[in-house]
Amino acid sequence: MPLAKNTRREQDQPPKRKIKFFGFLAGERMINPCTVAGLLLAIIAVVAAASYDRERLEIAKQILEEVPLTDGHNDLPWNIRKFLRNQINEFELNTDLTVVEPWSISKYSHTDLPRLKTGMVGAQFWSAFVPCATQNKDAVQLTLEQIDVIKRLVEKYPHDLQFATSVTDILEAHSARPRKIASLIGIEGGHSIANSLGVLRSYYQLGVRYMTLTHTCNTPWADSSNEAPVANGLTEFGEKVVREMNRLGMIVDLSHVGENTTRAAIRLSRAPVVFTHSSVYSLCNHKRNVPDDIIHSLKENGGIIMVNFFPDFVKCAPNATISDVAEHFHYIKRMVGADYVGIGGDFDGVNRVPRGLEDVSRYPELFAELLRSGQWTVQELKNLAGLNMLRVMRQVEKVRDEMRTNGVEPEEHPDSPNDNGNCTSNAFYTEYV
Ligand SMILES: *[C@@H]1O[C@H](CO)[C@@H](O)[C@H](O)[C@H]1NC(C)=O
Ligand SMILES: *[C@@H]1O[C@H](CO)[C@@H](O)[C@H](O)[C@H]1NC(C)=O
Ligand SMILES: *[C@@H]1O[C@H](CO)[C@@H](O)[C@H](O)[C@H]1NC(C)=O
Repeated sequence: MPLAKNTRREQDQPPKRKIKFFGFLAGERMINPCTVAGLLLAIIAVVAAASYDRERLEIAKQILEEVPLTDGHNDLPWNIRKFLRNQINEFELNTDLTVVEPWSISKYSHTDLPRLKTGMVGAQFWSAFVPCATQNKDAVQLTLEQIDVIKRLVEKYPHDLQFATSVTDILEAHSARPRKIASLIGIEGGHSIANSLGVLRSYYQLGVRYMTLTHTCNTPWADSSNEAPVANGLTEFGEKVVREMNRLGMIVDLSHVGENTTRAAIRLSRAPVVFTHSSVYSLCNHKRNVPDDIIHSLKENGGIIMVNFFPDFVKCAPNATISDVAEHFHYIKRMVGADYVGIGGDFDGVNRVPRGLEDVSRYPELFAELLRSGQWTVQELKNLAGLNMLRVMRQVEKVRDEMRTNGVEPEEHPDSPNDNGNCTSNAFYTEYV
């Protein structure tokens, strides 16, 4: 080996590297007994490290055997609309989509049944997302079509998927043999209700179990984090929406929602709230992430942040690693404990993924990574995997039942906040005869 190259390499090393295990081997010039002993030790260390890695992965898998890994957000249904116009008769989710176009060439595709199984996903909230461009237009129709395509997909794979709307359903799917993936529906953006409490109630009847109050656009009653605040909280109608969601048993999701609307919703909601796919603002100052005071307030509210893996939210950069993602989990745990955190990978909704968390098959590796940090007990990881979200859902169901028992009436609002009126019939039927 040319001396110059060696020398340069040694100069490149920061001094503290030299006292590290492999550093002293590289620094040796001659073969001597020390080198041989060192080499042996190094080999033992590598083998041991590999076996610890394997052991951690085994523990991770054991955790996900016992507890249904519950992910807060997956955008596969939107890709089915984009790529297939919701025509799914010929679509095979039970094959390796990494070799089927257009999935194989899309940066937005991370999900198929084989990978969901490898990833040991126990329950998935599928997003019935429709974009803000539909606001005041055909948002309700498109949302209904997304709900329909999710249900059709679940019916197409009865051995793998099971439609779920409750904690009981999730536990039943998880304990079925062979195991099934509990499939739930969430709506991403209040524009989907077109300012109508009747539409909100109808979505609940169809099985929708969370609604994100906004996507990237303000609604007439709640602000998005993506736009200048107008309500700066919730309007009177917005408060009715939150109260009605409590009464129905629909989880209030605050990912995407503006800060002050978020605070207002947490103050008002009688049931725990969730962030189905958001990360920590203090670690990456992105407005999609949750600031510290709001993380703190979850402790009293009982809700959770389901950490988003998107590198732009994890590192405020196009690149991130699995250990960067782990930092967000550590941070929340250090701040409020392991009971207020969950997982919302946002797979199929993003075009960049962290190294080590490339698709839905990688959840066990995330748990192995958290074990590696030494900061999490097995019980805490079970809570993170799914027990926290099941607790939230149980509490949401309890509030619903209490409100029902107490005879709380459905919210009414005859003059729903309207857009310019051009897209509705805008008819007020006042003739009695
Ligand atoms: C939230 O409301 C406070 C008080 O009205 C205001 O000072 C602050 O700018 C608002 N924050 C955002 C992000 O709009
Ligand atoms: C970041 O990730 C992209 C792929 O998403 C890759 O092409 C690029 O080399 C990475 N950059 C760095 C600095 O790691
Ligand atoms: C709505 O309709 C009114 C009256 O027909 C018209 O003047 C206005 O330009 C329309 N607004 C939009 C946004 O189309």
